[in-house]
Amino acid sequence: MNINKWRQDFPQIKNNLVYLDSAAMSLKPLSVIESVNHYYQDLSVNIHRGLYDISVEATTLYENTREVIAKYVNASVEEIVYTRGTTASLNLVASSYGLSHLHEGDEVIVSELEHHSSIIPWQEVAKKTKAILKYIPLDIDGRITLENFQTVLSDKTKVIALTYVSNVMGYITPIDQITHIAHQKNIIVVVDAAQALPHFRIDVKALDIDFLAFSGHKMLGPTGIGILYGKKHLLNSLEPTEFGGDMNDEVTKESASWKDSPYRFEAGTMPVASVIGFKDAFDYFNKYSIDEIEKHTMSIYRYTMARLSKIDGIEIYNPKSDTAIIAFNIKNVPSHDAVSFYSEKNICLRSGHHCAQLVTKWLGVPACLRASFYLYNDFKDADAFVDATIEAVSFFKRLGF
Ligand SMILES: Cc1ncc(COP(=O)(O)O)c(C=O)c1O
Repeated sequence: MNINKWRQDFPQIKNNLVYLDSAAMSLKPLSVIESVNHYYQDLSVNIHRGLYDISVEATTLYENTREVIAKYVNASVEEIVYTRGTTASLNLVASSYGLSHLHEGDEVIVSELEHHSSIIPWQEVAKKTKAILKYIPLDIDGRITLENFQTVLSDKTKVIALTYVSNVMGYITPIDQITHIAHQKNIIVVVDAAQALPHFRIDVKALDIDFLAFSGHKMLGPTGIGILYGKKHLLNSLEPTEFGGDMNDEVTKESASWKDSPYRFEAGTMPVASVIGFKDAFDYFNKYSIDEIEKHTMSIYRYTMARLSKIDGIEIYNPKSDTAIIAFNIKNVPSHDAVSFYSEKNICLRSGHHCAQLVTKWLGVPACLRASFYLYNDFKDADAFVDATIEAVSFFKRLGF
């Protein structure tokens, strides 16, 4: 019997819950929950302002998280900015860097694999600056390839904004090679790592990425906290997009000046509890190793795919995913109808366009089902999902779909 040593750390798994929606949000281990509780129960005070003991403790915990994250991605603490999530991080880069650096005719390379948060901010910047979005043509499987990337690269390219891992197809983008080529032409590379860091380690220095965004809630951490990594000189050259307390140096009647990064981007009271709890998520990855976690997750995924691909009556859109995501539909069945069938069996799947409408458009479907796996899933979850799919196919056939 396969014992999953992590499963017991996740108190949300009870009553035979089969949770296969980790790409939307991961469950949280007890250590993260306890850490957030500790802040609320024992501290619950603001940071950076109070000089009494519990405020100092809250500030220390808040800044400890930054140190742990900086070490994890091989950055310095000044390069780790707390935000509300990947969306906020990517918006900050587009609004601040994009609006101040792009001009009419400049080009921004994106792809149809992007989550809306990696594309709409650049569309808005393009409208204001008259810059042009260039889409990397996807290959026959829907992947971003280096070869296709080079077909849209030009002397006018100023920014490349790409997802590291697609939240629908699970494909890994060759970010290392793309960044290498981009930097020979002084192009800035902005990476959406929301689906990447939950699955593998990223060394921002080795990859030489300019900006990297990710969210706590997808990688065992609390909601409401995300990170923008940026190279120090780039962050310090950017104007903040929010203004208020704690981010300024000197304020006069007419104007104000900003602290250096990261504080210039952290105006007002930040999600202190979530920041503090996020450290425990990294402690968890440090304790168990993300490679070991990914090996387990992929073994569940491969087992599921082997069984799923034998079922007639379903269509799998990414049979060769690089991460544990399966995008599929039951033939002729709207995905929202199908998802309720699973839900009645306590199986949590996602249905829709997954905030990546360009992907479902590329697939030629209005929406699809998505099963995504993580460390707490086991082979029983895989069997429950595949058995339910077999049942769903015959159930909807009987109904005349
Ligand atoms: C690839 C990708 N990018 C960005 C986001 C946005 O993340 P958040 O909602 O945490 O801002 C998501 C969330 O699903 C995602 O999967």
